[in-house]
Amino acid sequence: MRPSLTDMTILITGAGRGLGRHAALHLASCGAIIGVADIDAGNAKAVAGEITANGGKAKAYSGDMSVRETYLAAAADFAKMTGHIDAIVNNAMLLRYSPVQDVDESTLSAMLDIGVKALFWSAQAMLAHYDKDKGGTIINLASPVATRGFPNTSVYSTVKGAVSMFTKTMAAELGPQNIRVNAVSPASVPTPGALGLNSKEEYEKRAAWIPLRRNGTESDNSNAIAFLLSQEAAFIHGEILNVDGGVAACN
Ligand SMILES: NC(=O)c1ccc[n+]([C@@H]2O[C@H](COP(=O)([O-])OP(=O)(O)OC[C@H]3O[C@@H](n4cnc5c(N)ncnc54)[C@H](O)[C@@H]3O)[C@@H](O)[C@H]2O)c1
Repeated sequence: MRPSLTDMTILITGAGRGLGRHAALHLASCGAIIGVADIDAGNAKAVAGEITANGGKAKAYSGDMSVRETYLAAAADFAKMTGHIDAIVNNAMLLRYSPVQDVDESTLSAMLDIGVKALFWSAQAMLAHYDKDKGGTIINLASPVATRGFPNTSVYSTVKGAVSMFTKTMAAELGPQNIRVNAVSPASVPTPGALGLNSKEEYEKRAAWIPLRRNGTESDNSNAIAFLLSQEAAFIHGEILNVDGGVAACN
């Protein structure tokens, strides 16, 4: 069952492909108005176009959402179009693994910038543009790698550890201002970005040790986001919801 998100205004970063794209299409199909933000202008435009072609409402924003000015400008324009912002999904990330001795400064900076700094801009954007009576909600994309060490994932895992902590800190700070903050923590979804880290063969092997004996899907993740955004989740706050077939609980 799809929760009703009629006319909910949702800005999604990294919505040009992968989990963000799917969430944008799914949330639009639940009635939401979507701000599709991505560093890849063509993809952002294509996803916004798909939504409008399906009868939904969307606007594309292109740019590096780790840059405060860019993030806040996109949020301000989206709020101008819609009246206010109800929700932000911080999905954008640069997915890279490497042995720690090979971590270079530009990749490290780019990953920290979009993975961590952008979250701060999202909180500022939400505070500037939400309806205080209606409330707002922020959803971050965490990962099971934030809770257990895996070799070669030092930057990515560090970012996702920060995402989890930021989610809890913002729950404490923004909850009293009627803004709910949660995270989803998907695992093993072979998106374009993830397939740059692990081959299709690796995903087939993984399915054998994931407790539910399959990889995740984009739908699994979008359904969890839609639930957390809905009124049914009105008292869920500061939660990091594993959408991972049991990976975090059992491995
Ligand atoms: N795929 C998985 O199994 C998995 C598991 C756990 C968490 N996640 C998280 O889910 C989110 C989406 O991942 P995905 O697998 O769809 O990856 P993906 O690489 O397929 O998509 C990421 C999107 O973010 C955009 N992006 C990157 N840097 C940006 C920037 N600076 N500004 C704006 N947009 C930018 C990219 O252009 C791309 O469209 C990420 O936060 C990722 O860490 C994914």
